[in-house]
Order: sequence, then C-alpha cells, then structure tokens
Amino acid sequence: MSHVQSEDPIRNASKRWLNQRAVDALRYPVPGSWLQPMGDTWINLASGYPFPNTVPGREFAAAMSHLVDIEGDRPFQYAGSPTSNDLTEWVADRMRKSRLMRQEDALLMTQGSIQGLDLLCRVTLDSESVVITQGPTYMEALEIFHNYTSHVVALPCDRPDRDFNEMLTTYLTSRTDTHPIKLLYLGSSFQNPTGLVMSWEMRQAMVTLAMQYNFLIVEDGAYDALYFGTPIPPIKTLDTRGFVVYLGTLSKTIAPGLRVGWATGPSPLLDAMARWKKDLGNPVISGITRQYLHSINYDARLDLLREQYRDRAHLAHEALTHFMPPDVLWDAPLGGFYIWLRYPDRIESTDLLDKARSLGVSYVPGQYFYPFAAAPHTQKLRICFSYETPPRMEEGIRRLARAFEQTLGTPHL
Ligand SMILES: Cc1ncc(COP(=O)(O)O)c(C=O)c1O
Repeated sequence: MSHVQSEDPIRNASKRWLNQRAVDALRYPVPGSWLQPMGDTWINLASGYPFPNTVPGREFAAAMSHLVDIEGDRPFQYAGSPTSNDLTEWVADRMRKSRLMRQEDALLMTQGSIQGLDLLCRVTLDSESVVITQGPTYMEALEIFHNYTSHVVALPCDRPDRDFNEMLTTYLTSRTDTHPIKLLYLGSSFQNPTGLVMSWEMRQAMVTLAMQYNFLIVEDGAYDALYFGTPIPPIKTLDTRGFVVYLGTLSKTIAPGLRVGWATGPSPLLDAMARWKKDLGNPVISGITRQYLHSINYDARLDLLREQYRDRAHLAHEALTHFMPPDVLWDAPLGGFYIWLRYPDRIESTDLLDKARSLGVSYVPGQYFYPFAAAPHTQKLRICFSYETPPRMEEGIRRLARAFEQTLGTPHL
C-alpha cells in the first residue's frame, strides 16, 4: 500500500496559495487514513476508544444542568466561569502532587493532548529539525510531525534483542547529518501501539541523553493511569532541568469527545505555545467537566477503570492464546488499550487485511505506526481491547485468527 498521495490537477492549482510547509504536508496521506472504512456490523478492534459503558453521558447531562443553575450564562461567555476556570487548578494540583510539574514549569490546557503536541511542534520545529520517535509509534503524532518536518526518525522499540536506549545512543553517536535534533517523542507506559513499558533505568537513560545531546523529551502520558500492576513513575518525574514536556488527557479516562488535555513543561516553552493557542479554550466543556469532577471521586473511578480494562486485557490475551496460530506473537498487556501482534513474513499484510475485512473484523495494519517515508514492510498489526463488549472482542479475535489461517493456507509465489 502506498503512503504517498497521488497528485490531481485541482490540488495542484490551489497549491499556489499554500506555503511550502503545507505543500510538503499534502504529500502525505489524508489524516486518519489508517482507520479503514468499516461495515456497521463489523467488530471494531481498530479504534482506541474507551468502553461505551464507562462514558458518563448522563452524569455530564446532570453536571451541565447544575452548572447552569449555579452560574447561569457565565460558562457560555468568552472568559468562562469560576467553575470552568477551576479545571486548570484541578489539573495543576494533580500534576504537582504526581511530580509532573516542577515549580519552574507551567501548565497549558489544550483541546486534547494532541493539540499540545501540535503547539509544541509549532514553536520548536523548523523544516530542518529532527524528531526522533519510537518505531512503531502513535500514528497521529506522526501526522503532526510530518506537517512540520520530513526529518522524522523512528528507532525500533520492539526489538527483543536490543534496548531502545542502545539504539538511541548508537543513532546519536553515529549520525552524519547536521540537522538539529529537537524532540524525542516517547510513550513510556503502555505505548500506543505496542503496549510496551520502559523500565526505570531506561527512563533515566532518556533524561541523561536529552541533557547530553540537548533535545527535548515529549512524554505522552495518555495511558499512564491505566496500569494493571505496579506503575513506574513517568520520565517527567526525573526532570530536574527542564528537558521534558509531559502531555496529559482525560480522553481515555473520561471521554475523548471532551477534548480536554494539557501540557506541563518549562515556562518559556509553554508561554510560546500559549501565544499560538487562539481558540480561547472551551469554557462550557471545561465547566461541565469540572462540575462532573466535583460530583465523583476521580481516583475511585480510575481504580474501577483499571479493574475493567485489566479484565478485558486478560480476556483478549486468553482468546489470542486459544485461537491464534502458533507463529503469531504478542506480549500480555500490562496496561493501556492495545496489543501488538507480530506474524511471519510468509503472510502478506494486504492478503491478511482483505481476509479480515471479508470476515467482518477490523484492526490497524502495522505500517501506519511508522514514518511515511520509511514505512517498513511490517508483519505487524494493532488490536484494541478497550472498546467492544467481551463476547464481541472474543469473536473478533476468533475471526482474526481465521483470517490468519486462511491467509497461511494461500500459497504465495
Ligand atoms: C498515545 C496517544 N496520545 C494521545 C492520544 C490522543 O489524546 P487526545 O484525545 O487527548 O488528543 C491518543 C489517542 O488515541 C494516544 O493513543
């Protein structure tokens, strides 16, 4: 499957108004093309959505009604209300208590954590800048990086024989080009898509290398709260000198449609990001969210979510063990939403996708988790255990196993 979009005349004509950065970005696939079209009855193992029953729709309706009772029109005005503005303090307090915000750091509320990443790129990257990522990594982060620079380097993070810090050190010491390295983007816990967790020692090594080679670590903490065992503190807790920006979100623990996220990090950086954030936030949603948080014990909610997702992860692991052919490999998840499957070279990725689609199950093919220019011919794929009901998830895994078997049964020339 080609990653580079074909040219068309209308597109070419309208390019005359675009700056070079936009022209460059248009060479890449349409954002979100990793999510293949799906039939209504298909089993969705592709989307990283929270389980529908955990989304507090009715509680938000009650919170909205209460908010209007106590604050009238104020959350609906540009400057927001005491309740909407207090969401920032609620986040700041949690960040300070978890040592994810130093005294010298600032906090910026964003429309989901992805906006924080975009703003950070806007104030740090030029077209010559290098961004280092794990390979594979979160595809939407790649879409953002590609909007700013073509120098996106993905270092393998799922090689059993070599540690990521060894790869990074080799890259840093042996590179020959002189483009400045600006960002190292990391999912340290339950990484999307591999579910991998970096050891404490690895986290320490990342900070040491950032200080030695003078680049910024962007730690994406989207799944940090969804651990199934003992969590390892984020890299940000090791940051004594302002080399780490931490991205947080309520998308996975309350609902992605809220678009409530934030970034913490060195004040000059966050101040610059704030200059480009001209959307005035979202006072209505912030107000309802804060009101909702007043009405619950958020830590108790997290405990419950961890239990539910732990059970689902266990079930997915059991189903995989039961149904998959022996040469399909994966690691039992330790948290988060995802399982990364590796399969042998003799299975053609496109054949597998066709078979899975014909059997009514979706997943995200591995190639989308690598920089577009360097997408390897991956025999890998991501499934998500967070969204479907347990029986449908089990059935989805059974169908995927059947797709593997049928593809293995197809002789390739
Ligand atoms: C690693 C990672 N970061 C960030 C996000 C998106 O977060 P938000 O909804 O807060 O923009 C996701 C969502 O799938 C994710 O997997």
